[in-house]
Amino acid sequence: MPSSPSPSSPNPSSRELREEGSISARTPLSPLLPGLAPRGYPGAGGGGCVVAVGVDLTDVPRIRKALGEFPERFIKRILTESEAAYCLSRPDPAPHIAARFAAKEAVIKCLGGGVAFKEICVERAMSGAPSIALTGKAAELAAGRKILISLTHLPEIACAFAVLVEG
Ligand SMILES: CC(C)(COP(=O)(O)OP(=O)(O)OC[C@H]1O[C@@H](n2cnc3c(N)ncnc32)[C@H](O)[C@@H]1OP(=O)(O)O)[C@@H](O)C(=O)NCCC(=O)NCCS
Repeated sequence: MPSSPSPSSPNPSSRELREEGSISARTPLSPLLPGLAPRGYPGAGGGGCVVAVGVDLTDVPRIRKALGEFPERFIKRILTESEAAYCLSRPDPAPHIAARFAAKEAVIKCLGGGVAFKEICVERAMSGAPSIALTGKAAELAAGRKILISLTHLPEIACAFAVLVEG
């Protein structure tokens, strides 16, 4: 059986810190691990306890097909105006739309459902970093808590990972 490193090691794990009583299970980790804090994301940087997570993968060809068949209806149903303006400004909008579709699904997983897609908006900082703005029922369900989001996409697939944290 592998021996666990001593709690007094220079890089103790969060389990070791809990065992020696330096932190509790609810201690936010990012201030303890500044090198790992997600500083690039608006609203992030530590402090909030994680309440829920959500992840989603979206098939880009499916989005491309829907865009080809009924572009206006599809975009209007899924995207807010600012999201549509950004995606349609890209040479190939489909992966960007798929990433936002995934983001909305991931956020809905965090919030527990019962939310309209357009109540979840992916905003974009100058750096390109995404953030989430909520309205309506989605904002009510979040109850002042924040959602952190990260997106990635390839020509065939898009992925979003969302984290609901105490504000
Ligand atoms: C920000 C960065 C990591 C994005 O990587 P990428 O592979 O181009 O992006 P992906 O295809 O995985 O994902 C694209 C999404 O990333 C997100 N993104 C873009 N810039 C971002 C940033 N600064 N921070 C966080 N997320 C960002 C966006 O949501 C984007 O999707 P969108 O255009 O539809 O809004 C990359 O552009 C970068 O700056 N890399 C640093 C490279 C570097 O410094 N190398 C030096 C080592 S030698």
